[in-house]
Order: sequence, then structure tokens, then C-alpha cells
Amino acid sequence: MSYNKEDYVRIKAEFSQKYLLAREAAMARRSELHAKIPEVWEIDRLLSGTGMDIMAVITKGGANTEAKIASLRLRNEALQVRRRELLRANGYPEDYSDIRYECETCGDTGYVDTKMCDCMRRALVRAGYESSGLGALIRTQSFDNFSLDYYRSGDPRGYEAMQRTVSVLRQFAEHFTQDTYQNYLLIGGTGLGKTHLSTAVAKTVIDRGFDVLYVTAVGMLADFEVKRFGHGTEGKQDPSRYFEAELLMIDDLGTEVTNQFTLSCLYDVINHRINNRRCTFINTNLSPKELEARYSERITSRLLGEYRPMIFTGTDVRKQKIKKN
Ligand SMILES: Nc1ncnc2c1ncn2[C@@H]1O[C@H](COP(=O)(O)OP(=O)(O)O)[C@@H](O)[C@H]1O
Ligand SMILES: [Mg+2]
Ligand SMILES: [Zn+2]
Repeated sequence: MSYNKEDYVRIKAEFSQKYLLAREAAMARRSELHAKIPEVWEIDRLLSGTGMDIMAVITKGGANTEAKIASLRLRNEALQVRRRELLRANGYPEDYSDIRYECETCGDTGYVDTKMCDCMRRALVRAGYESSGLGALIRTQSFDNFSLDYYRSGDPRGYEAMQRTVSVLRQFAEHFTQDTYQNYLLIGGTGLGKTHLSTAVAKTVIDRGFDVLYVTAVGMLADFEVKRFGHGTEGKQDPSRYFEAELLMIDDLGTEVTNQFTLSCLYDVINHRINNRRCTFINTNLSPKELEARYSERITSRLLGEYRPMIFTGTDVRKQKIKKN
């Protein structure tokens, strides 16, 4: 579990802010009570002096030290009872000036001892969805709504292959760890579920706390161009994330413009990730032959050697869905 670094820094700062605001708001309510009910002010003054009172008793020592401490404790309890009465009598809830943290478990610090609190984990996952580049897809495409029925009409071997593909990718996603290293090449025509299954994998891996980045080949190369030429508005990401993300998904390889520059960027990303054992998914409508014709040997040898191919066959699911309606 390592999350996206920028998300982590931002969320940590948000938690610190939340924690401070909760405390400040409680202080403000306390001041309000003190202004409206002078006796509460007096009670709070006595209560907050209790530590000092006990210290004084202990320092003085003597035979009845314990009895004196016990009586201070009793006095405190009585003061607290009186405080609650006063608040109720003045139309306030008894806990009006208590600190109200958003999360009672961690007091909005994000941690319980050294363990990250679930609330912070959830915030990081939500941020991970946002920074994954998947946008709305993450809410609509999952393993749960991926149906194998769409592959039943054709060759039964196609259906069986899809069954295996889903099961392999599901295993991959559900067991993803820091040490996982496997690349996948999703190959097949338009509308056969490559993006859908990739999104399902991405979501599952983000839920497990890892940094996932999804991008189209066109989008990725646009980001490199922005960096190279130092201008343009289409670049959304700093290209360094393409090297660092724990899982990168490059969708629609083959739809981008190929030239010396784009080929070298693509090679750098693929090669760097292989050398650093970082998982990558590449989706394409191109057949292995078409890949070889389009890309340099040093790219295709890596794609065909280091990536596990997953062949998608059947009839465009988008069209099947339209027909059904
Ligand atoms: N097996 C499936 N079950 C449910 N919906 C699917 C399935 N395969 C594809 N779809 C839906 O069909 C549309 C096209 O699929 P998509 O994953 O974009 O195809 P590809 O990326 O292979 O071109 C999407 O809306 C997707 O959610
Ligand atoms: Mg697609
Ligand atoms: Zn918490």
C-alpha cells in the first residue's frame, strides 16, 4: 500500500486542517458558553485547574494525601454534573463544547497509534479514483456488471477464452501487492470490453490502496509533447507519473500519431517499467501483425515477450446492447 504521493500529501494536510478546525470550533463554543453563563466559566476554571491542585496536594505530602485527592475527584464530578445542568437549563446540549471530530476513532488525525485509520484509507481511495484518470468510468464499469453472456453467441472457444481472461484479471487485481509483476496486452476489436475490464481491474487495485494511472495512448503522448515543447493545454499529467504509477494502463494503443518522438516516448515508458518491474496494461485494436508493422522491433519484442496477451473476440457489446433495447 503506497497510494499516490500527491494525494497522500494533500489528504494529510486536509486531515491536519480538519483536526485544527474541530478544536477551534469547540473552543469557540466554549467561549460562547462562558460569555452567556458565567457559572460555567467558573466551573471550567476550576476543572482546568484540577491537575495543578492534585500536584499541589502531592507535593505537600502528609498523611491524608489520598483522601485529599479523592475529594478533589468528587468535587470534579459534582462540577461536571452542575455544568451539564446549567447547559440544559440554558437550552444547550450537554456536550455543546465537546470537540466534534468527523471521525471519533482517530480524532481526525488519520491514524490510530501508527496504524492508518479507515477514514483516511477511504479518503485516499476516493482521491485515487480521481487521480487515476478514469473519471466517470470508475463508477460504471466493474467486475460486477461485466457479463460473459455477450460472448455466448459465437465460437464456444471464444467464450471459454473470455471466461479465463476475466478470471485471470480478477485474480491479478484482487491479489495485487507491492511485489506483483505481470503485464497484460488486451487485444481485440472495438466494443469487446477491453476498457471495461481494465477499469474493473483499476478500481479493484485502487481499493487495495495502490497508485493506478489510466490513460489513452493519445493522451499520454500529448503529455510528453507538452513537456517537450513547454506549451499547449492538452497535457493533463506530468509524464513522470507514467513511469512511477504502480499500475499503468495505456488504452487504445495504435490510435496515436506515430513518429520518431512518440515512438521513443512509448519505448521509454514500456522499457523503464519492465526494468523496474512495474505492472502495465496495454489495450489495442491492432493484431500482433499490425503491431509489428507499426512499431519498431524494440517495442514489439517487448510487447510480445514481456506482456501476457489476452485475446478478446465476439461481437461489439455496445451494438448487442443497442439491439436488446
Ligand atoms: N462483458 C461486458 N459486460 C457488460 N458490458 C460490457 C461488456 N463488454 C463491454 N461492455 C460495455 O460495452 C461498451 C464498450 O466496451 P469497451 O470496454 O469500451 O470496449 P473496448 O474497450 O474493447 O472497445 C462499454 O459501455 C462497456 O461497459
Ligand atoms: Mg476501449
Ligand atoms: Zn478516522
